Amino acid sequence: MKALILSGGYGTRLRPLTYSQQKQLIPVANKPVLFYAIEDVIEAGIHEIGIIVGPNKEQVIETVKSVDWDANIEFIYQGEPKGLAHAILVARDYLGNDDFVMYLGDNILREGIVRHKEHFEKSDYDASILLCEVPNPQQFGVAELSEDGKTIKRLIEKPKHPPSNLALVGIYFFRPIIHEAVRHIKPSWRNELEITDAIQWLIDNGYKVGWTKVTGWWKDTGKPEDLLEANRLVLDEIEREIKVETRAKIIGRVKIEEGAKIDENTIIKGPAVIGRNAVIRNAYIGPYTSVGNNVVIEDTEVEDSIIMDGSVIIGAGRIIESIIGKEVRIVRGDGHPLGRRLIVGDKSQLTL
Ligand code: G1P
Repeated sequence: MKALILSGGYGTRLRPLTYSQQKQLIPVANKPVLFYAIEDVIEAGIHEIGIIVGPNKEQVIETVKSVDWDANIEFIYQGEPKGLAHAILVARDYLGNDDFVMYLGDNILREGIVRHKEHFEKSDYDASILLCEVPNPQQFGVAELSEDGKTIKRLIEKPKHPPSNLALVGIYFFRPIIHEAVRHIKPSWRNELEITDAIQWLIDNGYKVGWTKVTGWWKDTGKPEDLLEANRLVLDEIEREIKVETRAKIIGRVKIEEGAKIDENTIIKGPAVIGRNAVIRNAYIGPYTSVGNNVVIEDTEVEDSIIMDGSVIIGAGRIIESIIGKEVRIVRGDGHPLGRRLIVGDKSQLTL
C-alpha cells in the first residue's frame, strides 16, 4: 500500500498565517501539522509516500526533507489546487495500480491509522472511510449509512440539513478503481473535484464503501480556533522533559528544548512546550502554550497560544488564545505620544 498525503491548497481560512506559510506546516505543539500525518502513515507500515504540493512547494519540500524519515518520499506538484479528487488525478502515475491511503495533511488523528488500515485490508471493500461524530456536521462531508449500518449509502459535502452527525475524516482508503471514479465526476459548486463525489460515484456504480469509526479525538486544522484546539489536545498528552538548567518555577508537564534560557523570575505552568534557544524573562507561560524556537518573551503573560519561531514579545501584558506567526514583534512602546503603533498585514485579527 502507498500513501498520498495532501499538502497543497491556499489555506484561505487561515489567513494571514497562510500568506507566507503553507497551512500544513503551521506548528502544533512545535511540530508541523503535516508531520503528524507522515508519522501515522509510517507507523502503519507504509513506506512509499507521495506528498502533493502546491503553491508553496519549496517550503514543504525543504521542511519534509529536514527529517530523516523511514520512507521513500516523492513530491507531486498539483499546480492550481482544484480539489481533493483532483489530487488523485495528478498522482495517477505515482499511485500506479496500488491500494493507497489518502491523508489530508491538515488533519490530526490521535489514534493513528493502524486499526483503520487493517480493517480495510481484511475487507473486500473498494474504499473505506473514517467517520467521527461531531457537533457541527454542516462544516464537513457527512455520511448516511446503509440499513445494516455496514456500508455507506450516501455522502454529502457540507450539507445544510445533515442526515447524521457522522463527519468524514480526511483519511480515505482506496483500491485503484478510484481512478476511474475521479475521471467521471464534475466540479462542485465551489469549483472543486470533490472526493465525496468520487466516493459517491463508486457507490452509485455498485462498488462497496466501508467505514470505521474514530474513537479518540480528531481535528481538521483548517481554521484558527481548530489550530488552538489541536494544540491543546496534543499538549494534553506530552511528558515533562526539561533539557536545560533553570531556576524558573516549572509546574507540571512542561517540555523545554535545548538552548532555552529561562530566568528565575519566570513561571511556566504546563502543559506547555518551549522551543530551542527561546529566551524567557520575567514572564508567565500558562497552560496550553507552544513557544517556538528562538522566541523571546519578556515581562509578558502568555497562555493558551501558539507563538511561532523567532517572534519577540516584550511588555505586552497578557496574551491569550492567540496565534502569532514567525518573527512577529509585539513590544510595549515608550515615549510620547501614547498610542498603539501597528503594522499589521492583510486579514490579521487583533482583539485589544
Ligand atoms: C474536506 C472534505 C470533507 C471532510 C474534511 C475533513 O473538506 O471535503 O468531506 O470532512 O476535508 O477535514 P475541506 O477541508 O476541503 O473543506
